[in-house]
Amino acid sequence: MNRTVKNALSLLLCAALLMGLCAAAAAKEAVVPPAQRFNDNGKYTIVQFTDFQEGGTFSSIAKDFIRDYAARYKPDLFVLTGDNISSGSALSSIPAEERTRENALAAIRTAINNYMDVFDEVGIPVTMVFGNHDAESGYVSRYDEFQIYREHPSFIGTSPVAAPGAQNETASGNHYGTHAIDIQSSDSAETAFRLFMFDSGDYSSAGYGYVQPEQIAWYESIQTADPKPSIAFQHIVPLEVTDSLIEVSQDTEGARGATNGKYYILPEGSLGEMNEGVCPGRRTAGQAAALEAHGTQAVYFGHDHVNSYEVLSAGGLLYVNTPSASFGSYPDSGPNVRCRGARVITLDEATGLATSELVTYDAFYSEGPWAWFDILRYNMFIDMKTGATWIDIFTFAPLNWLFKALGLKGEGAWFVELF
Ligand SMILES: [Fe+2]
Repeated sequence: MNRTVKNALSLLLCAALLMGLCAAAAAKEAVVPPAQRFNDNGKYTIVQFTDFQEGGTFSSIAKDFIRDYAARYKPDLFVLTGDNISSGSALSSIPAEERTRENALAAIRTAINNYMDVFDEVGIPVTMVFGNHDAESGYVSRYDEFQIYREHPSFIGTSPVAAPGAQNETASGNHYGTHAIDIQSSDSAETAFRLFMFDSGDYSSAGYGYVQPEQIAWYESIQTADPKPSIAFQHIVPLEVTDSLIEVSQDTEGARGATNGKYYILPEGSLGEMNEGVCPGRRTAGQAAALEAHGTQAVYFGHDHVNSYEVLSAGGLLYVNTPSASFGSYPDSGPNVRCRGARVITLDEATGLATSELVTYDAFYSEGPWAWFDILRYNMFIDMKTGATWIDIFTFAPLNWLFKALGLKGEGAWFVELF
């Protein structure tokens, strides 16, 4: 490469980085979350991301996943279903002998801000529940982390439930952050739909955590006093999903082992894939029976990173697993390495029903004049995971920003509209 071309490229990248810094500064403007309400067309859209599970650095491409899904689907709400950070990875840069609650809190704040700043930037409300990895470091509790989320103007989560341990600000094994969000009708202040956000805990004597009796009692009290169409979100797979799978012998083709020691395949007619064994806690407090009794249509969860099934229970509850959204953990390789994506959930006011579609990143970026660029970039992350960020922030990321700033790339860009 001759000197002139090198200089021109350097100037281009510097300009892109400068513009990126200006955009980051502008992103700090306050976002006031509106009351949740159906749109005039009677729809309400949710995009669910789950299991980012990253630490001190956050994959630069995942920031653009958030921006791009926001631009295409214009969701009314983003929902994060836990393992939003890996608290262990977030503290990995602090030597064990130097770890204090104060510097651990600073590292956790950085890890959370990495993506919450992007939700503030796109100006769309977001809520979340914790997973088993969010607060397992032992230094920073769910309560502390929840306060960091609350520093973000896009965050609309609350924690009204006195669940077991909820007031223990130093323990990680509680259920802090369980809440409900009412969505008003498009033409009145009447609640037309309700979202339940259950913190499924982290670990217990039954292996993984599960939703506790006090949380179920809280849910039942709300749906009994004012029953509404509803769906639920949580991190850990409810144990009862195994009642709706087909139990088979270990040597059956496609059999996946579960944490209860049994093997399963998906029932015929179910959507999506079960690429790994399901990992619920080994105990339940009767959550699924309660959800069925009060007409909650579906429970959306993550935790198992390469599963995407939708399985209907005999009692009418749809279990929906969404695969992981970023590069903080598996899948590392093999046939499931490209399953990452987000779930787009549409609520319909007229029917009171929720439907969903898993949109993998491959599917999202499969069309248009920039598909080659986006997939090339995605492939680099598939191969290198979070390590690709250091290359990306000097190559694809600033170019992506520049092309969008020039109106060449992104939703509705004039250049894209030509195709
Ligand atoms: Fe998990």
